[in-house]
Amino acid sequence: MTRPTGAIAGNLVNGSPFPAALWSEAVYSRRAIPDTLATGAPAPGPAGAGQDPLPDGPRLPLAAPPLRLAPSPGSPAALADPVVLAALLHYSYGLLQHDLTPGGWPLHRAVASARCRYPSELTLVTPAGAYRFDPLHHQLASLCGPVRDDMADDPATPRFLVITSRFARTARLYGDYAPRLCAQEAGMLLGAVHLVAAALGLRSRPGLGLEPLRRLCARWSAAAEEHPMGYLEIGPSAARPDRRAWLPPDLAAVLRSRHSGAAVFDPAPVAAPRALLPHIGASLAGAPFTGFSCHLLVRNVDGTAPGHYVHSGNRLRRVRDGDPIAMLERIGQTEGRVSVNFRATACTAYLAVRRGAAVAEHGEDAFRRLHLVAGAAAHLLCVVAAHHGLSARVHNGYDAAGAERLLGLAPGEETVLFQVALGAARPGAAFRIPVVF
Ligand SMILES: Cc1cc2nc3c(=O)[nH]c(=O)nc-3n(C[C@H](O)[C@H](O)[C@H](O)COP(=O)(O)O)c2cc1C
Repeated sequence: MTRPTGAIAGNLVNGSPFPAALWSEAVYSRRAIPDTLATGAPAPGPAGAGQDPLPDGPRLPLAAPPLRLAPSPGSPAALADPVVLAALLHYSYGLLQHDLTPGGWPLHRAVASARCRYPSELTLVTPAGAYRFDPLHHQLASLCGPVRDDMADDPATPRFLVITSRFARTARLYGDYAPRLCAQEAGMLLGAVHLVAAALGLRSRPGLGLEPLRRLCARWSAAAEEHPMGYLEIGPSAARPDRRAWLPPDLAAVLRSRHSGAAVFDPAPVAAPRALLPHIGASLAGAPFTGFSCHLLVRNVDGTAPGHYVHSGNRLRRVRDGDPIAMLERIGQTEGRVSVNFRATACTAYLAVRRGAAVAEHGEDAFRRLHLVAGAAAHLLCVVAAHHGLSARVHNGYDAAGAERLLGLAPGEETVLFQVALGAARPGAAFRIPVVF
């Protein structure tokens, strides 16, 4: 690994969160990762500074989250219902598991996060003000009050869940690589909110636009040193729920059991159930955004021939037969080493987006937008895996240029943003217990 150039950190200081250099420094190579990551020591440079205290505004306790996620019988679901609000926040980004393994990462949330840094923040923006979700205490902390006093009770004003990111939290380890990881996680969190909202019978409308996002965050994000990343409009309550979403029968239990596998991803070489690919297809068909394709390199799934499958435009087709192990071990490399034990995986997914067109249209903001699109889909893959008792490991140790070539992506146009390996979990050293509020 080489040291970061400082170009990205300089840009962060100047307020541009996704400089053009990120594509080459953090997607096509991992040059932005500092050498210190291997030892877990803080990254050098300005990006490592900064503290992240909890907001000190008044606190509102949240209701106990229900053990099951289902639309409320009789009345339309609404965020005004304290149990619905608690369920949405808890199962989207709450603290779900406590890992008691000495020296491990103790706190695990509903969404995967590189080395459990959890840089994302989830904020409820209502007519009465903005409230930060505090998963550790299962509370809301007030960030600011209503813009005008007469707005506080206006039922016609929409409610939003807004995702921001504290790059500094991840940069303490990852230096200039942090914006990439933060953008990936923000997308996964957006996918989580969208899925849980559907399970609760809430309608959610995710947004990619930068201007509405900035307006939603204008009063509090700068002071909190967070970058606006994404948002979903939730409700209004009379709206119909999203019927496209793929929902397993007991989503809450599935989310409580979701995990990324052991430190080195080395699953048991056991066939995954035959419903895996149909469920992946159904879940991606209900993803919050279109505009991505999912390449599945299948090795060991019951009743499914090994090969290369592509899900795009809501269709799943097989493009190549045969064991894809050579391709997996060529794409899935970090500095010449194979990143996970692909020989024991059931299937590995690569999420690709049209980078060329997005950069031409949105410039530097294409980075945020495309990571939201792909990240939301990546979380769905993790949930489908959990439904089938599999671990799903998001792993950035892959060669983006090699992936483009070997997966047959449009040269110079399509880019892989996520590699997610799926496999049967082995009993490991970790001892995780569920967290119940
Ligand atoms: C965006 C992102 C990138 C990740 N990159 C890697 C990686 O390169 N290598 C790795 O071993 N794990 C990687 N992970 C996995 C995380 O370390 C894992 O999700 C975390 O330990 C939390 O575990 P849990 O999902 O079981 O709660 C990544 C996760 C995310 C969300």
